[in-house]
Amino acid sequence: MNAPARYAHLPEPVMPRCPAQKLLGGQKALVTGASSGIGRAIAMSLADAGADVVINYVSGEDKAQALAQELREKGTRAMAIRADVSDERQVSSMFSTMIAEFGTVDILVNNAGLQQDAPFHELTLAQWNRVLGVNLTGQFLCAREAVREFRRRGVNPEVSCSAGKILCISSVHEVIPWAGHVNYAASKGGVMLMMKSLAQEVAPYRIRVNSICPGAIRTPINMEAWDTPAAYQELMKLIPYKRIGEAEEIGRAATWLASDYADYVHGISLFVDGGMTLYPGFETGG
Ligand code: BGC
Repeated sequence: MNAPARYAHLPEPVMPRCPAQKLLGGQKALVTGASSGIGRAIAMSLADAGADVVINYVSGEDKAQALAQELREKGTRAMAIRADVSDERQVSSMFSTMIAEFGTVDILVNNAGLQQDAPFHELTLAQWNRVLGVNLTGQFLCAREAVREFRRRGVNPEVSCSAGKILCISSVHEVIPWAGHVNYAASKGGVMLMMKSLAQEVAPYRIRVNSICPGAIRTPINMEAWDTPAAYQELMKLIPYKRIGEAEEIGRAATWLASDYADYVHGISLFVDGGMTLYPGFETGG
């Protein structure tokens, strides 16, 4: 078969870097909330793929510094920066420090997030504000700084096909309602439409914006759901694939989504959840 003819008005086909050159070689990544759990695994995975990494943390200074050290020992440029992502001034100073040290930002992983659960009638305004402040406003503040830097720099084809990538770490609870966790679910629902609206707005600048929506991943945030055999058995009723996920699996998804292999993937919520969003109650019912 003849190769299809080229047309002058069409762009050149995208040529992603091949893995032998390291998928994220030469890129600078900022991962928020990276001292533990999913953020830590994402930072490690991006570093393994060749990125230099800033590890943001708000507590757990020892763990953040130890991770930075571990990455440096593997030959990565890494530094830990303390900042509360819900605080505008701290976020802006974190980006200034990163740009001063690393030159730019190519990848932002908006991972910092927390739960403060309560029955709705007992949910305090402080719990509501803290969860929305970190999980949603924090993602806004970091994304805004990243977009400013991506627009300033533009595309550097030596480094990536795009001017920058934003990954929002959302949750299956951006679509699954969650009784007893109204503040958390509201924050993740907000992340979904913030991400998609932002993706629509900044696409012409070749800035890619996507979300990863983890299901039940074995981290400290949901320990109660997996630390006893009885709890684990209950959890399995919600997961068609019949196992809990591991943080490294989110790291791998993030690495692919941030890489040029995913250059035409834009504005999606990628569910990494063993099928949790497939209405598992209907496995046998209905
Ligand atoms: C929550 C976890 C929960 C999972 C599935 C995540 O977003 O942080 O606590 O286990 O969703 O329900």
